[in-house]
Amino acid sequence: MTSLLHLDSSARRNSISRELSAAFADAWRAEHPYGGYRYRDLAADPIPFIGEGWTELCDRVLAGGGTDLDRLAELADTPAAAAAWAIVEPLLAEVRAADVVLIGTPMYNYSIPASLKAWLDQLTFPRMSLAPSRFVVTTARGGAYSPGAPKAAYDYQERFLRDFFAGHFAVEDTVFINAELANSRQDPALAHLREKHDASYAAALAEARRLGKEY
Ligand SMILES: Cc1cc2nc3c(=O)[nH]c(=O)nc-3n(C[C@H](O)[C@H](O)[C@H](O)COP(=O)(O)O)c2cc1C
Repeated sequence: MTSLLHLDSSARRNSISRELSAAFADAWRAEHPYGGYRYRDLAADPIPFIGEGWTELCDRVLAGGGTDLDRLAELADTPAAAAAWAIVEPLLAEVRAADVVLIGTPMYNYSIPASLKAWLDQLTFPRMSLAPSRFVVTTARGGAYSPGAPKAAYDYQERFLRDFFAGHFAVEDTVFINAELANSRQDPALAHLREKHDASYAAALAEARRLGKEY
């Protein structure tokens, strides 16, 4: 049975990245009425930051040269590592069970919110592969970072996630759906960019619906 893991990470409830991820998820669920679906709100229900027990577990994995995710539990052989494993295990199981991982994320400080980074840190064991899961990321940003934009080089959100999924999870084909210039909704100094934002938002929404159907 195919399944979708859907994560959101915006601190806002009324959020553009949430709207976009919901559009993808609604379309996907309509296409797969019997598919599995799991939702996590990383902002409302935060994942703890990794602690020393997690680093003990990671060091044991590195020392053993292990790549077998099914054997991670055996390496959690101190109380601190076992406590860390109790947090990691369900998160890892959710990702491994998913054919599609969908992440809604705002751009915060040119990158991702701490809520999403905490989730990634928990899952980052050396040499681990999550392919053939497919990853889709819906983003919202206050400014513009598409090719040609003056601040294109400041986009550490898409670049970081793309490189992270390729480098750590061996997932090379992450798809990004970005809505730009969102700050024009609130900031009167950016009102002249509102039309561009509306077009970017509409295109992102259409793409989220299209891809949700296709995946
Ligand atoms: C803490 C914080 C940091 C932000 N940093 C940036 C930034 O570096 N670049 C940018 O373009 N927009 C930035 N923004 C604006 C958000 O990207 C924008 O509000 C976007 O709509 C957030 O996504 P959401 O609607 O899903 O919450 C920031 C917003 C917040 C709250």
